Amino acid sequence: MCGICAYIGEKEAFPILKEGLKRIEYRGYDSAGIAVLEKEIKVNKDVGKIEEALKEELEGKIGIAHTRWATHGGVSKENAHPQFDCFNNIAIVHNGVIENVEELREKLRNHKIRSETDTELIAHLIEEELKTKLPMEAIRSALLELKGSYAFALLIKGEDKIYFAKKDSPLIVGIGKGEMFLGSDVAAFLKHTNDVIYLEDYDFGYISKDREAIFNALSGKKASRRAVKVSFSPEDVEKGEYEYFMLKEIEEQGYRITDMLNSNTKDLERAIEEFDRIHIIGAGTSYHAARMLKYLLEREKGIESDVMISSEYKFFKRPDKNTLVIAFSQSGETADTLKAVKFAKERNAKIGVITNIRGSSLDRISDYSVYLNAGLEVGVAATKTFLAQLVITYKLSKRIDGEEIKRIINYSLREENKQVVKKFSKEIANKEHVFYLGRGLNFPLAMEGSLKLKEITYIHSEAYPAGELKHGPISLIDEDSLAIFLVPKDETYEKTLSNIQEVRARGAKTILLSDVALDNSINIAKPKDPLYYPFAELIPLQLLAYYTARERGLDTDKPRNLAKSVTVE
Ligand code: AGP
Repeated sequence: MCGICAYIGEKEAFPILKEGLKRIEYRGYDSAGIAVLEKEIKVNKDVGKIEEALKEELEGKIGIAHTRWATHGGVSKENAHPQFDCFNNIAIVHNGVIENVEELREKLRNHKIRSETDTELIAHLIEEELKTKLPMEAIRSALLELKGSYAFALLIKGEDKIYFAKKDSPLIVGIGKGEMFLGSDVAAFLKHTNDVIYLEDYDFGYISKDREAIFNALSGKKASRRAVKVSFSPEDVEKGEYEYFMLKEIEEQGYRITDMLNSNTKDLERAIEEFDRIHIIGAGTSYHAARMLKYLLEREKGIESDVMISSEYKFFKRPDKNTLVIAFSQSGETADTLKAVKFAKERNAKIGVITNIRGSSLDRISDYSVYLNAGLEVGVAATKTFLAQLVITYKLSKRIDGEEIKRIINYSLREENKQVVKKFSKEIANKEHVFYLGRGLNFPLAMEGSLKLKEITYIHSEAYPAGELKHGPISLIDEDSLAIFLVPKDETYEKTLSNIQEVRARGAKTILLSDVALDNSINIAKPKDPLYYPFAELIPLQLLAYYTARERGLDTDKPRNLAKSVTVE
């Protein structure tokens, strides 16, 4: 989704902002822009990649920058941010979606509106308010008229400040020495500081080069916000020797596993035992982790729960004070999950959040937070954070053998095993449709493998419980089909072998992931406890997607139409 970076200090803003935008490039975007304030506000923006869009340097020590992922209005230079008021006295970069656009357009009909964006209307609204008010009052009045979500950074000609506001979209203040930053995520300024303030909804205010001022837009009163230190390091946002973050992050799992295993799950474990009802939610990969938790809680502890995709939650569930809602979200900012959690909180449910980002929106409204300890994940496709989620689901459901899990992970990462997976990716690269099949605990892994493949290779793929094939999907199977089966030597083994025969009998190709030496199979680690097979399957599935994408010549870190953190519903 869109990204924001802003800088005020003693240094030239343009190179800092451009570099900051590159750090948040992974969020996905279609255009980029920077505005710098000196005597005048100067702007440089265009469609395309940061390097192409921002060729011309601008001088000045105060600036705002943006990567845009089109929502209101198509992909064009006019719609790229920064957007301006009538006289180029106000420049704004904005994430989120303003909902009362028609009403605002009507109110501002005498203004010179040049783009199709909702963002531009905010600049004109503030322009209108500035006719009678000082900047902070003007911004507050404008905020009270906005409906929808926003995180914005704003320049006003003649003011040595960067103004900001936040509601339902993340915005973080970075505190440096004699310099201050704003970012839609910490990666935007991590190179310069680890000291941050996570802004709350309705916060607005400004940063100058040596201080921040934060107020609440509803009450107009000063808001007190604590600065925290984030644990991520600048190396997390560097590719190092790797061509792609995705491979770097897959390989990192070998050493990150120790921190993941050390994650503190005690409070949430206790809560799970105490509540009458448990609802587990997540989106995408996080939903697969949610399913895994449901399976394991029931199997290992006899605790029943409901699992649901976040965006569907409020249509079906009626949580109350006896409900514990457990939300998985690596980013802690996914709008669908956040909305579901807020809905549950309003109905007095308690909230457990499993996230990689301390201080994220979900973390802040959680009653029981568990941290993934995976290090910042940059690749759009979740990899190491899913392993961490898997670790947490096991920790919450049973006593786990950390050493055994480490052994399994490191087995999958051995060079010879990676090379085998790479070889198999050539069999997938020219396919149009792929099926991922597995039973029991292997099914959420089949779902995850399938999602990884479709996200970064654009090959159509579907995951089914292997037993479900004969109830419909098998009609799609012919000589051109490819089915990838998870067939570990666990309780599902025999039945899955029969399903493989059904598929092969129809002329389809199969690739098997197994610890048994089967025909056309990728060898996976053999765990001491069959319950650990998902750990053995995970990395081969991730690598299969990665190498297939590379075989097709694709950039695995920036898949088309996708964003790392999906902050719109
Ligand atoms: C995973 O590879 C995807 N990029 C996506 O499905 C992701 O898992 C989903 O958007 C949820 O994100 P979250 O974990 O940050 O909430």
